[in-house]
Amino acid sequence: MASQNNFKENIVLIVDFGGQYTHLICRRIKNLGVSAEIIYSEDLNKITLNGVKGIILSGGAKSVYDKESPKISKDVFDCKIPILGICYGFQLICYLEGGVVKKGSIGEYGCCKISIIDKGELFSGIKKKSFLVWMNHRDFVYKTPKKYKVTSITENSIVASFENREKNIYGVQFHPEVIHTKNGFKILKNFLFKICKVKKNSNNFNIKEEIYKEIKSVLDFKKAIIGLSGGVDSSTATLMVNKVIGKNLIPVYVDTGLMRSGDKEFILKEFSKYDLNLRIIDAKEEFFKALKGVKDPENKRKIIGNLFIKIFENIALKEGAEFLIQGTIYSDRIESGLTKNSSIIKSHHNVGALPKKIKLKIYEPLRNLYKDEVRKIAEELGLSKEIIHRHVFPGPGLAIRIVGEVTREKVKIVRKADEIIQQELKNSGLYNKVWMGFAVLLPIRSVGIKGDARDYGYVVCVRIVDSKDAMTANFSKITYNVLERISTRITSEIREVNRVVYDISNKPPATIEWE
Ligand code: XMP
Repeated sequence: MASQNNFKENIVLIVDFGGQYTHLICRRIKNLGVSAEIIYSEDLNKITLNGVKGIILSGGAKSVYDKESPKISKDVFDCKIPILGICYGFQLICYLEGGVVKKGSIGEYGCCKISIIDKGELFSGIKKKSFLVWMNHRDFVYKTPKKYKVTSITENSIVASFENREKNIYGVQFHPEVIHTKNGFKILKNFLFKICKVKKNSNNFNIKEEIYKEIKSVLDFKKAIIGLSGGVDSSTATLMVNKVIGKNLIPVYVDTGLMRSGDKEFILKEFSKYDLNLRIIDAKEEFFKALKGVKDPENKRKIIGNLFIKIFENIALKEGAEFLIQGTIYSDRIESGLTKNSSIIKSHHNVGALPKKIKLKIYEPLRNLYKDEVRKIAEELGLSKEIIHRHVFPGPGLAIRIVGEVTREKVKIVRKADEIIQQELKNSGLYNKVWMGFAVLLPIRSVGIKGDARDYGYVVCVRIVDSKDAMTANFSKITYNVLERISTRITSEIREVNRVVYDISNKPPATIEWE
């Protein structure tokens, strides 16, 4: 039996099927001034839909034909509430309404062009007949259900959207919530304001104040420790929690030996301005010993995660701390497969790769934020520009930028190559324009010629990407001149390297880091 819901009037529900972008859809809607809430697919049939103005069926990693794929009852299509299906949600509408979804042989990942056949309400106000959208699918709608009209198609003649105006049900194969989709926000706005006729909220959503309130109620002035890496996420979390519980927070910088050049000195300089209980722990030996002989990326991540926790637990025991705070943000969580139904892309050290048994209570105050939101808060907190605009650096550090076994020699090579890339991006004025740039050391050697002699050296891959929130990314189209300078410097300043390649993959299907 359906139970009463606690929703406010005038809300849009987003049904979570485990898609990478479910939370992004919710944030976009909230940013448009509309109340939105995410619910799990199995809960949709258990609640009454009073006050719900629209339902968005999100994406998901499964195929509608998989036995365990998340489904909803068909009854929802008769409830007269406007529905928009996105990606998996679009395919699910097709499947449940009697159409045919098929497994594609190659899929469409990344930018694709669609052509509008019928504007209807969803595409209303869009001037161009064809535009680029962001796709991430393999299955596709082969035959639309009866009474559903195709409203746009891709260049491969795949159905990109359909609708049933009578039932007020719409579906798009692409992701309107992702910034790479041209007119994506217009499409969402059309759904919300023209189709659902939802009203804007008068009170603005203040994320920072919400987080302070939560920190106060969760920590209740109890002692906590936080891993401070000097990245914008952990720095922001440190200052926010410090503001609430003061010196009951112990920020810990662990020198794993896998950090960037000059990281420790940077932390000391940056945070000496604040009244913090900062501890610096030298754990280089432990990390290299634990990683000896390990090649598998997930194993590396898990070993590193375990070691971090061991170190944090020891400090917590000495200090009597109950909580471990982490600067985890939304994209870390979703890719670690931490929302129900989502698939594990990789275990980010500060979440998915944590050991099962931890003596500390984990608290992640920034868990629902995207990078651009964290940067905005960091700016408001007065953190230095260098921290705010510092390129992201993964928790497991350089270990996941060395394909294969991690050795001290390889760390030295990849660290130097990384330093050169950072310097050249800064020299050319590109550092703040790209999302991040870094080096990956490949586990192969190639023949070269250095100083008139045959050389058999390492290959370094340069990866520079543009992104807004790390959920999707494009390789940066930086000039050949800058690439040439990077390549020349790497091969001349690092004796062991004689070849440099540039990674031209987008995300998806690649991820930003290699491991
Ligand atoms: P991927 O490689 O998943 O990376 O496309 C998305 C963003 O997250 C960063 N990243 C991490 N950050 N711990 C972190 O704190 C990690 O284990 C981790 N792995 C990847 C990555 O640098 C990129 O900006």
